[in-house]
Amino acid sequence: MAPTRRIFSGIQPSGNLTLGNYLGAMRNWARLQAEQSYECIFCVVDQHAITVPQNPAELRNATREVAAGMIASGVDPDDCVLFNQSYVPEHAQLAWVFNCVARMGWLNRMTQFKEKAGKDRENATVGLFVYPNLMAADILAYKGTHVPVGDDQKQHLELARDIAQAFNSMFEKDIFPLPEPQIFGAATRVMSLRDGTRKMSKSEPSDMSRINMTDEAEVIAQKIRKAKTDPEPLPETTDGLAERPEARNLVGIYAALSDQTPEQVLAEFAGQGFGAFKPKLADLAVSVMGPIGTEMKRLSADTTYVDGILRSGGDRARDLARPVIEEVYDAVGFLRP
Ligand code: TYM
Repeated sequence: MAPTRRIFSGIQPSGNLTLGNYLGAMRNWARLQAEQSYECIFCVVDQHAITVPQNPAELRNATREVAAGMIASGVDPDDCVLFNQSYVPEHAQLAWVFNCVARMGWLNRMTQFKEKAGKDRENATVGLFVYPNLMAADILAYKGTHVPVGDDQKQHLELARDIAQAFNSMFEKDIFPLPEPQIFGAATRVMSLRDGTRKMSKSEPSDMSRINMTDEAEVIAQKIRKAKTDPEPLPETTDGLAERPEARNLVGIYAALSDQTPEQVLAEFAGQGFGAFKPKLADLAVSVMGPIGTEMKRLSADTTYVDGILRSGGDRARDLARPVIEEVYDAVGFLRP
């Protein structure tokens, strides 16, 4: 029997981990895990990464690096299941069943596919189109009930709920829970440092647009110094940030890094310009992210350690997922001779 509260979340090993991944996801994973009221499963989703072209050697390294980044962020591998997706074939097995449950119309509505495929849709891989089905399979292969993610994953999670519900009703069995998104903190959507209307992303061409988790202290400080802002002083209330996306983003980052609300940050800095605010933000970012980056680099270099964690996590994940697949196969009518 699955416990009633089981967390599943995942992250792609493509490009550098960013401050957005940390504040929007990985830090929350570590905190939820520490609460001890959930069973936690965290996954490096290498099969999702290949929906766009990857260099094989880099993919392998990035998989280890992302696992190291999770551990450096406070995820405790002794107290959760931490593994890479391709190690556990049950994800792909369930994804196939979901390919036969989800409808073209549902997937056609996914904004992330439209953004990623761009104008050249004919040339996008089929994998990129059915990406959300694999994501639903990731969660539901464990009957995951809670999914801590950044704001950009909301639509994918709605689809996962739709798939769970459609499966249960197609086969008249109450196999899957409807997983709940957990989107919280002051930085559920960290924006680019160069354009406050675009998400901070590991795939953005300009490195100045993001803080990477492995950036050295001087680089972090320089990126914040050069971050786009406006000439106005900081306002008294968050309403005053409504039309100021860059200012809102930096205040949100400060709030998240210092565990405050944006209102508390404004209470401290209202009336001050960015000349005063940016150095404080840079110091804060360096003090929080610096040690995490150092630990991440140390762990990534220890490939034996990381591979050992992923292997034992993967074995445990398989033990959890196998009975769920058997239940699904039985419901669908696959003969198990
Ligand atoms: P990915 O790899 O793009 O991002 C991993 C996590 O980081 C969050 N995130 C952000 N949060 C706030 N601000 C940002 N700028 C920012 N950028 C990224 C994401 O919301 C995410 O929580 N499809 C997923 C991976 C996935 C998954 C899953 C997640 C695959 N299977 C099952 C949950 C459950 C993705 O591409 O995340």
